[in-house]
Amino acid sequence: MIVIAHLSDVHIGATPESAGRAGSVMRYLDALPYDLDAVLVTGDIADHGRAEEYAEAGKLLTSRHPVLIGPGNHDVREEFRRSLLGEQRPSAKPINQVYRSDRAVYAMCDSSIPGQDDGHLDEETLAWLDGVLAGTDLPVFVAFHHPPVLLHSPPVDSIRLHRHEPLEALLAARPNVAAVLVGHAHMGVATTFAGHPLLVAPGVVSTALLPWEGGISFETCLDYDLPPSIAFHVLDDAGRVTTYHRVIMP
Ligand SMILES: [Fe+2]
Ligand SMILES: [Fe+2]
Repeated sequence: MIVIAHLSDVHIGATPESAGRAGSVMRYLDALPYDLDAVLVTGDIADHGRAEEYAEAGKLLTSRHPVLIGPGNHDVREEFRRSLLGEQRPSAKPINQVYRSDRAVYAMCDSSIPGQDDGHLDEETLAWLDGVLAGTDLPVFVAFHHPPVLLHSPPVDSIRLHRHEPLEALLAARPNVAAVLVGHAHMGVATTFAGHPLLVAPGVVSTALLPWEGGISFETCLDYDLPPSIAFHVLDDAGRVTTYHRVIMP
């Protein structure tokens, strides 16, 4: 059995509470009486992509468990690379990263489009991902920021991952995909994509209300009073992925 934690959208610098919320989540994970296989953070790390926000995020998003952090639409590739990945001369190329434990592989892809809120996976990233999937018999968790399907939320859907068809075809051809993990929506959701589980992490900085809760526009969507929440995903020996959501009181 593999247990991973999945959190998203810490948006350091967005609100006075953002750092405290992220810190509470990471302290909770560190105090678990269990070694997680990985902690995945699926984007929107720094709300404005500023160096000081990444400096704070870098301190907060550390753990005794292995942590893999990806970018979202709020992130800036060069500053993300410089501050979080320690690159001296950071490029603006997609930030695609792989982490391999001895039981699973984690492919964190960059679905951001610099300067835009919607997302896509470019050809370079798709080729990189296909290589990771082809190069192992272990189960692979594929992670990125933007959900590739409609989530029935008009504001979220308007900035989802567009041109999803090549990704869908690629993933449908790879049975060793354990699940697809995304963020961006600030709501915990479980659905399917390309025949695999598609699991959306709830938000740490805020929670998006659903249309039937009044969340019909960007102005009415985000609730900053609801507490931060994270997901645990369990991959069992039969290959089934089960998801649990946990509210963390900041
Ligand atoms: Fe976000
Ligand atoms: Fe986002």
